[in-house]
Amino acid sequence: MEDFRELIKNKKPQSRTLEKMKEVLKEPGGELSRIIYDVYRNVATADNLRYDLTFLYPGKIKDELPKTYGHYHKNSMMEIMEVVSGKSLWLIQKYENDPKIIKEAYLIEAKKGEKAIFPTNFGAISINPREEEKTVLSNWVSLKTESDYLPYKQFHGACYYILKNESGEIIFEKNPNYTNVPELIKLKPKEIPELEITFSKPLYEFSAGQLEFLNNPKKYKNILTIENCYTKI
Ligand SMILES: [Fe+2]
Repeated sequence: MEDFRELIKNKKPQSRTLEKMKEVLKEPGGELSRIIYDVYRNVATADNLRYDLTFLYPGKIKDELPKTYGHYHKNSMMEIMEVVSGKSLWLIQKYENDPKIIKEAYLIEAKKGEKAIFPTNFGAISINPREEEKTVLSNWVSLKTESDYLPYKQFHGACYYILKNESGEIIFEKNPNYTNVPELIKLKPKEIPELEITFSKPLYEFSAGQLEFLNNPKKYKNILTIENCYTKI
């Protein structure tokens, strides 16, 4: 695999500062110019797909673990993400008609090489659970994908805030701005041999065939379900 540092050489990231993240944090605190994460978009393209890299820097914001802003996808589009280095948590959530009423919420834990597919209609945030090391994530997504950031903005974040207390325990606190938040179910990603989705091959090297589900989500809607993509832990 090409080293990810090569892919971003001479490229400028889009930086999300604390200033921009204020509206989705439980309690903003600290320097407003602090960069919470950097996104390098479009570092590679293939077959109507885009490859991005995200650097999620360590260090809590008050009690909250650093995270991405969060968004849903319009038009039933899916996404595949990989941990390139460090560890990641993803909080994914889904509503039916009212974005204030969450029907399903999952916490996915993943380590280097593991890949997670966010099935149709799930919104997601990425979280860096470690305080001493950055998390590097990569993703492929269809160029047809449109993001919807509004519910995360309106309700000041995802349906849970993910905090770390002084003894180093991770705590999940329901976000009171939602009307209904279900219990959080913990998952880990699994390989999907039928679609050649394995953890040994870097996501960057996946073929257009392996990633076809990103451009044709309707065809894979019943295959790429929570049950088929994850194991409960
Ligand atoms: Fe996305």
